[in-house]
Amino acid sequence: LSMGQFSSQNIENILAFSQRLKPYSGRGSKLSILEGITLKPLFFEPSTRTIDRHVSAMNTMGGDYNPPFDEKTSSMEKGEPEKDTIITAAQTADILVIRHPRPYAVHKFAELIDNLKNNSAFIINCGDGPNEHPTQALLDYYTVMEELGNLDNLIWLIVGDLQYGRPVHSHMYGIPKFSNNKIIGFPVGGLGLPEEYKPNSYEEFDFDQLSKVASEIDPKSKVVLYTTRIQFEREARKRDPDYDNYDELRKKQIRDEIYREFRYQIPLGLLNALPKRTKLLHPLPRGSEISDEIFLSNNNPKVAMIEQMRYGLQVTMGYFALFSGLEEMLHEPEKYLTRRPLALQRI
Ligand code: CP
Repeated sequence: LSMGQFSSQNIENILAFSQRLKPYSGRGSKLSILEGITLKPLFFEPSTRTIDRHVSAMNTMGGDYNPPFDEKTSSMEKGEPEKDTIITAAQTADILVIRHPRPYAVHKFAELIDNLKNNSAFIINCGDGPNEHPTQALLDYYTVMEELGNLDNLIWLIVGDLQYGRPVHSHMYGIPKFSNNKIIGFPVGGLGLPEEYKPNSYEEFDFDQLSKVASEIDPKSKVVLYTTRIQFEREARKRDPDYDNYDELRKKQIRDEIYREFRYQIPLGLLNALPKRTKLLHPLPRGSEISDEIFLSNNNPKVAMIEQMRYGLQVTMGYFALFSGLEEMLHEPEKYLTRRPLALQRI
């Protein structure tokens, strides 16, 4: 539910087992580790990556999934309460992955199903409004391990929307669990980190100070430049509580207005000026902040956003098995391989 629930050992354990699964996360690969386990995706907010990697991880690990929840075709359209929808999903699925616009809503659903008679299902938080996105933080740590070698002695420069950015909030609980990390926030347009998430020794500067602070970093440092999109839809709801009731055209006008106000971009020159051992990460989706030139650059060693997305699959496979109590099986995944990765070639 929260990065706050993990110790550094828990995180390292998830990352180590995820790494063991790397050879089995290729396209076409199939293991039988989660055979008999069923996933239900319940996304009450849009998603591209998170829903895909959970369904794909379940497939690769040999489990099953029920159709993703869709508000328009579910009985919520007939007035069924949300909580009944969650209880219903827990009758036929073992793992419920939930994204919801209300902060802490997923915690409440977890409490609800934990208190049900004869319930064995559990819930994974895939983003609860502007509160947290802990599974994104896990895959970010995996990326940092793969790309920079460790999770200690790092400088994290966190840029963009720190007010509503839920992976950022999870990182404020996660990064300080490792040794000697420095976290510096650079909010755009005053979207600073709320007090409740501020760890000890956190520093914050306006975005326009980023180049100056970056130029003062010891070139021998390892740096994570963690960028985030501006969450226009959440700012729009704050400015106008009726936002969700407007037609699409009006909503777009409001979003465009906010977009113009908060638009920012990471200049290539800034990335070039940062220490050699810098990785640019972004939870995605991206907005104006990451240009195509940076996102699609295949040979810039500081850019790791597509790798970050790809690592998400093996991390999700890893925590599915661990959270399901199947750690033993992860010691020798080869024993559970039912289909080798396909060696597809472009013709
Ligand atoms: N990173 C992430 O949560 O992406 P989606 O919103 O596409 O799931």
